[in-house]
Amino acid sequence: MSTVADWLVAHADLDRVDRDALLGAATGLTRAQLLARPERTVPRAALGRLADWADRRRRGEPVAYLLGRREFWGLELTVTPDVLIPRPDTELLVEVALALVDGESRPGGRAHSERPRLLELGTGSGAVAIALARERPALDVTATDLSERALAVARGNAARHRAEVTFLHGDWFDAVTGAFELIVSNPPYVRADDVHLRDLASEPRHALVAGADGLDAIRRIAAGAGGHLAAGGWLALEHGWDQGPAARRLLEEHGFGDVATHRDLAGHDRVTVGRRREHRR
Ligand SMILES: C[S@@+](CC[C@H](N)C(=O)[O-])C[C@H]1O[C@@H](n2cnc3c(N)ncnc32)[C@H](O)[C@@H]1O
Repeated sequence: MSTVADWLVAHADLDRVDRDALLGAATGLTRAQLLARPERTVPRAALGRLADWADRRRRGEPVAYLLGRREFWGLELTVTPDVLIPRPDTELLVEVALALVDGESRPGGRAHSERPRLLELGTGSGAVAIALARERPALDVTATDLSERALAVARGNAARHRAEVTFLHGDWFDAVTGAFELIVSNPPYVRADDVHLRDLASEPRHALVAGADGLDAIRRIAAGAGGHLAAGGWLALEHGWDQGPAARRLLEEHGFGDVATHRDLAGHDRVTVGRRREHRR
């Protein structure tokens, strides 16, 4: 027999937040319930599952993959090792996209088609596209990925949250036709030799790494976006904390105007935006 307190002590080498999440998932109890009665007995079946999870956690598997879920923008999403685990930082990309959409629909904003078209490139679990489709149902949202397996996860998440998103398979812009009012992406942006990749070994490498300087995907998207944006449409890209200057330079080189970088809660450059000029140079 083992109580909640016994289990927590026996696994004190694991992070406390992780222990609480695993215990909660195995027992079906909330954190408050676990804290209120640490003398509760942990059922035998839950102990078996917890032993497996604790071993795998020690070997480096993220809790989100162990539990098969992660919250993003207040939505519980299914995640598997085929998709990047959505990060809180990426909520800034959603916020910036919403502000751009709302700016366009205010009086004096640019007139656009009946349902503004939004494209997310590299959707992974579908986190960003689903959050945006739910926040602004008037948007016509398309999301792409190079990974069919990621798209299967994203489609499941969209169905679960009744988000209307068209998912397409392909290499960046190859999957889409026509012009969009807004293109957003959280592309891979880690340098191939980044030491932090050691800690991210469970996540798909193709979702993280983008060449020697981490900018290969951003270069491709910056180069292609002009051809898929309506005149006056916006591109918003998430990137690494030290990639703001390079992202701004790339957008400017490709003729974007109103180029600016938004900072995350830690004060780091995180999302760079640019606007396709009315008349392309
Ligand atoms: C950093 S992850 C972002 C996932 C998700 N949007 C999020 O923010 O959690 C980058 C995504 O881009 C996808 N990707 C990588 N190369 C791609 C390409 N050439 N064309 C389309 N998608 C690609 C990966 O499969 C992955 O899902």
